[in-house]
Amino acid sequence: MSTDTCVTQPASTPGFISVEALTKRYRPDMPPVFENVSFTIGQGEFVCIIGHSGCGKSTILNVLAGLEEATSGHVIMANREISGPSLDRGVVFQGHALMPWLTVQANIAFAVRSRHPKWTREQIGAHIQRFVDMVGLNGSEKKKPSELSGGMRQRVGIARAFVVEPKMLLLDEPFGALDALTRGVIQDELLKIVSATRQTVFMITHDVDEAILLSNKIMLMSNGPRARIAEIVVNTLPADRQRETMHHDPQYYRIRNHLVDFLVRRSRETDRDLESSATPRLVRPGLDDGEGEGDGEGAAVVRNAIPIIKAVA
Ligand SMILES: Nc1ncnc2c1ncn2[C@@H]1O[C@H](COP(=O)(O)OP(=O)(O)OP(=O)(O)O)[C@@H](O)[C@H]1O
Ligand SMILES: [Mg+2]
Repeated sequence: MSTDTCVTQPASTPGFISVEALTKRYRPDMPPVFENVSFTIGQGEFVCIIGHSGCGKSTILNVLAGLEEATSGHVIMANREISGPSLDRGVVFQGHALMPWLTVQANIAFAVRSRHPKWTREQIGAHIQRFVDMVGLNGSEKKKPSELSGGMRQRVGIARAFVVEPKMLLLDEPFGALDALTRGVIQDELLKIVSATRQTVFMITHDVDEAILLSNKIMLMSNGPRARIAEIVVNTLPADRQRETMHHDPQYYRIRNHLVDFLVRRSRETDRDLESSATPRLVRPGLDDGEGEGDGEGAAVVRNAIPIIKAVA
């Protein structure tokens, strides 16, 4: 059950998720991991965040999930301040965080029963099976986590988050342990689900190609301590992009080079131009020479809807 608090949201606050001046300090004698992080995410958007190891990505995701408390700042989701976990937000953890004493089926059933307490055994069973099939784990339903490979455990974590069909998915490197083929299949399933349900996705990845394929915005996080969201890259590739062909579009290289350049060179820079709690600028590599125009609902997102994945016949 949600413990979120209803707040009066200023009329000017855009977005389904609004993160306002978020700061996290784990120890008083140490500088904050990140400071004054502000951004918005619109409903149905697929946003990836990229940054070096240790900059604070998982911490931000855990604050969005309501599992970690920020030192200061707020996170508002659909006019309510996030102040605890909720079934409205499904999380795939960086470590899969399965219950080791439960089978695959029982780990997933636990989530379904929380969401649908009145469902019969049969309804729960059928619903679970749909998601077990989706992640390719049929035949392993009765196994316990210790009997699974790392990638299989990760897939149980994915099924467990998707099965409750939350309004928002918070994915912490969800495909990191998967082989390329399985990763591609589950990425396509994810896209089909979120484009059908208009779920909002916040995903951490270290894979720039994955970010370009999946997301319509990519947030670039500078190195910590005092990390910031340096800028938000708008994915200007067409919505019908496909993993096999997107590299034929010259725009793909402009976006990719921009992301890699940030990781290799610019992530160490502190953006002194950024106001203390300002929303990061939006950039469209190759289209505006790196010049952004401020975030907000009215920002023109050119061709970048979540990619359309062709249905399998
Ligand atoms: N519970 C904790 N107590 C103290 N410090 C912590 C705690 N959790 C994380 N940190 C520190 O906060 C920083 C950010 O950690 P976080 O896990 O958010 O990084 P990350 O960007 O997700 O890294 P990675 O890409 O390696 O997963 C790190 O320096 C880490 O040591
Ligand atoms: Mg992490």
